[in-house]
Amino acid sequence: MRRRVVAGNWKMNMIPAEAAAFAASLCDGLKETDAEVHVIPPFTDIAVVADALKGTDVFIGSQNMYHEDKGAFTGEISADMLNGLGVHSVIIGHSERRTIFSEDDTMINRKVVKALEKGLVPILCCGESLETREAGNVSEWISGQIESAFAGVGENDASKVIIAYEPIWAIGTGKVATTGQAQEVCHLIREKIKELYGEKVSEDIRILYGGSVKAENSSELFDCPDIDGGLIGGASLKPEFLDIVNA
Ligand code: 13P
Repeated sequence: MRRRVVAGNWKMNMIPAEAAAFAASLCDGLKETDAEVHVIPPFTDIAVVADALKGTDVFIGSQNMYHEDKGAFTGEISADMLNGLGVHSVIIGHSERRTIFSEDDTMINRKVVKALEKGLVPILCCGESLETREAGNVSEWISGQIESAFAGVGENDASKVIIAYEPIWAIGTGKVATTGQAQEVCHLIREKIKELYGEKVSEDIRILYGGSVKAENSSELFDCPDIDGGLIGGASLKPEFLDIVNA
């Protein structure tokens, strides 16, 4: 049985005082769930959010990291720095990083490998543009993203990765994928993992859906056989996040 995961990606929102107050408001609700919850604030809020969520089993995540250990990389944050703050997971390859900050498959693969080496859980994002979908190339595109992100990752580490399927056209647009579309791609990802690592890893690995998940559509999405939870953007900044966790 795969444990369900709900992860809230706060993106670039909330100053520390707001973050602490919001996290404190979620605290009681988060104590009651069986799901594995990750709260993923901006770097500058990690310490206050971790403090506010003490006493819960919630994991704190980071939205990014750099793949080098230390040195002249102005503006970057290393895996050791995240570990030093008690961070558990790290989003890698979010489509906003890929498109706005030009992160390519090679860099994303380096980050996945480094995160695993340092004991962090990568939440690896993949997803196609509307153009790719309309051209009928979803399967090939996703398969390529998975294959390159997992290059050099051994069988023992592969199932530690959490994969998030986030179709770019569904992120922040209110245009959620249908359960059929979301299930189809999550299944395809599981098949790809099976091809790379075999049956056991493909059955153990958690695959999330992300893109305009709200309280009202979450149960239906999370009921799909290959969807093990969600990566939530906008709705993770609201009390509604607890309803999604409960779904
Ligand atoms: P929204 O839930 O705001 O569409 O964002 C999804 C996302 O990008 C989570 O990483």
